[in-house]
Formats: sequence, C-alpha cells, structure tokens
Amino acid sequence: MLDLSVRAKTTISLIKADVGSVAGHHRVHPRQIEVARDCLERSKKDGTLLDYYVFNCGDDLELLMTHRLGENNSTIHGLAWNTFKEVTEKVSKPLRLYAAGQDLLVEAFSGNVKGMGPGVAEMEIEERVAEPIVAFAADKTEPGAFSLPLYRIFADPTSCAGLVIDPAMHEGFTFRVFDVVESKTVDLACPTELYDLLALTGTTSRYVIEKIFRTRDKLIAAAASTTRLSLISGRYVGKDDPCMIVRCQHGLPAVGEVLQPFGFPHLVAGFMRGSHIGPLMPVGLDNARCTFFDGPPRVVALGFNLTDGRLIGFGDEPADLFADVAFDRARDVANDVSDYVRRHGEFMPARLGPEEMEYTTLPSVLERLKPRFKPAS
Ligand code: 13P
Ligand code: 13P
Ligand code: MG
Ligand code: MG
Repeated sequence: MLDLSVRAKTTISLIKADVGSVAGHHRVHPRQIEVARDCLERSKKDGTLLDYYVFNCGDDLELLMTHRLGENNSTIHGLAWNTFKEVTEKVSKPLRLYAAGQDLLVEAFSGNVKGMGPGVAEMEIEERVAEPIVAFAADKTEPGAFSLPLYRIFADPTSCAGLVIDPAMHEGFTFRVFDVVESKTVDLACPTELYDLLALTGTTSRYVIEKIFRTRDKLIAAAASTTRLSLISGRYVGKDDPCMIVRCQHGLPAVGEVLQPFGFPHLVAGFMRGSHIGPLMPVGLDNARCTFFDGPPRVVALGFNLTDGRLIGFGDEPADLFADVAFDRARDVANDVSDYVRRHGEFMPARLGPEEMEYTTLPSVLERLKPRFKPAS
C-alpha cells in the first residue's frame, strides 16, 4: 500500500549550559536535573515539546528536546533559557554550587540563545521509517574536539566502511565549516574538497564543523554546537563544552561507524582551566565526571530512535553507548596519555599557545612582570 500521509517535520534541539556544579567544575547536582526535568515536563504537557531527555556531561546540563517549531525558534530557545535560569535560581544559588549560572552571559533573553552563552545543536528533519540518532556531549573541551571524529565518520573511507560499501553514501558528504573568529561559514563537498576541509578544520581553535549534509540530496546528517564563550564575553568563562546530534543508518553512517572514531582518545584543548591539552575519553553517563587535573576531557554518546518525535530508548533511559566494555581500551589509553601529557607541567604544547591563553588570567600575570623587563644587552 502506498503511504500518502504527510509527515510533519520534527526538530531535534540539544541545548546545553553550565549553570553551576558540585565540587568545583566536577558534576551537575541531581536536584538541578530534577528542576530542569520539571520545566520540560510542563512544556511537554502544554504541547510545546513532543519529548525531552535531560542529562549531564560533567558540569554541563544538557536539554535534548523534540518539537515541531523548527530551528532557532524563540519559544524553544526561550524555554531552554528559562530552564537554565530556573535551575540557577532554585538550585545553584541556594546550594551555592560552584560557578552558579556560569554560561548565562547576559541578563535578558533576546529571542535566540546562540551568542548568549548556551551551546546549541539543532536539526529539522523528516523522520525516516526508522530514525536512529546519537546525541553527543563533551566536558572540559571545545567545539573543535568533534572535528577529527566527524571527519573520520563522514569523510574517511578507512574508518567509515559505508562510504565505500553503501551506494547511497558514495557521493559523499558536505561539511559546513564555521569560522568562529569571523563568524562566517563555508560549505565543502567531500571527497572532492577533502584537502580544503582538512586545511581549515585542522585549526581546531578557529574552524569548527557546524552541519553535515549528504551531498546527493542535501539530507541533514549532523549538527554541532559552535559557541566560543571567550569570544562572546572577551574573557575566559569556562570552556565551550560542545554537543552534537548525528543521524545514523540507512544511507548514513551506521551507529558503529559513528562511535568507532571515539575509540582513539585524540588530544583536545580544554582540561584544567580550559588551558591545556588532554585526551578525549569516551565514557558512560556514570563516568562523565572530571577529576584528574579537572579531566581528562570526557564525551558521552546517547542513542535513541526517534518515532513521531518520541525519544525511544530503554524505558526512560537512552542507549548509553560508551558505557560498553568495547571502549575500555580507549579509556586505558586516555589515562596513559593524561599521565604522559601532565608530566610536561606548564610547558607547551601541554599548555595552550599564547593566542588561546589571551582570554585566561595569564595576561594579568605577564602584565605584572612588564616593568621588570630591561633592554637586552
Ligand atoms: P543499514 O541497515 O543502516 O544499512 O546498516 C548497515 C549495517 O549493517 C550496520 O552495521
Ligand atoms: P568548565 O568549562 O567545564 O566549566 O571547566 C572550567 C575549568 O576551569 C576547569 O578547570
Ligand atoms: Mg564549570
Ligand atoms: Mg563543563
């Protein structure tokens, strides 16, 4: 039978902010999660949201929401903003959690949370018959941390078998690259423009991947947050702990092809004071808690099937994909690499270069030394 029903489009919005945490920048308090859930439950009851899932990666509170209102919608962004505000007022401030309201950089909401502190990954889609998605969130790092895995997933045929085997993917994927300094984007179609993609995104602090489309039909395949807090506020606030949504299967990379690149705990910027490099450790939700030198940086991956906007997992919980033993080796390697890199102390490249340190408290230390410099003889 021909299905003539018109499916309404579904929007997936993953919006996150650090609004304070327990024990330094360690971890979100359970009460913060509860208050955020209450806010989103009200919006589900009044019909604004189709579904939601609240979780955390370390000290970052993550709101995964589905609805029919499209991207950059002021109702949805306002809901996220008010939720972060309510959590701050009802929990972070009364409990005097660390850095209460950290990522809420402005006083009043003005229509779109982008540029106001929170990170946003959003995509509007027509649900396929089966719509597997993976929501990623990372702590103690920045949006550029996703560039290497996204390249492996959507452009590297030695990593993603589907690029070679599946005719639906053979024409490749188009990467929308965002220049965080100039606030401009460029679309690069890979494999044709693969070297251009690497020329830009190799500079992880400046060029980040915002969206990925399947080239042959422009189907949206991935969306990631691109916020750089320091560039908004002009000072170090916290790192821009990123999030992203990736669609999988049936003409897109399989879930396993999406996860495999995270089995290599590559070096990313972040770690202690957002000023160092460290390996990105894939972990289950229970281990999304930075400790050692406020790290090592962590990433979680939550799998769902999207069904008429409903986030289908196992009962109320998603598939906690990195909780699997198959990522134990990656965690061991990450621990070894953390030890190794920390033995460099404050010497580059363990500490970030001067451009990145500009937004930290280091310049005030250097300023104090200025009068003591004498012309070299
Ligand atoms: P699809 O059914 O999405 O093509 O997945 C292929 C596969 O076998 C995944 O490993
Ligand atoms: P967050 O960006 O996760 O808040 O961490 C800040 C920090 O200074 C860690 O040492
Ligand atoms: Mg923090
Ligand atoms: Mg954080």
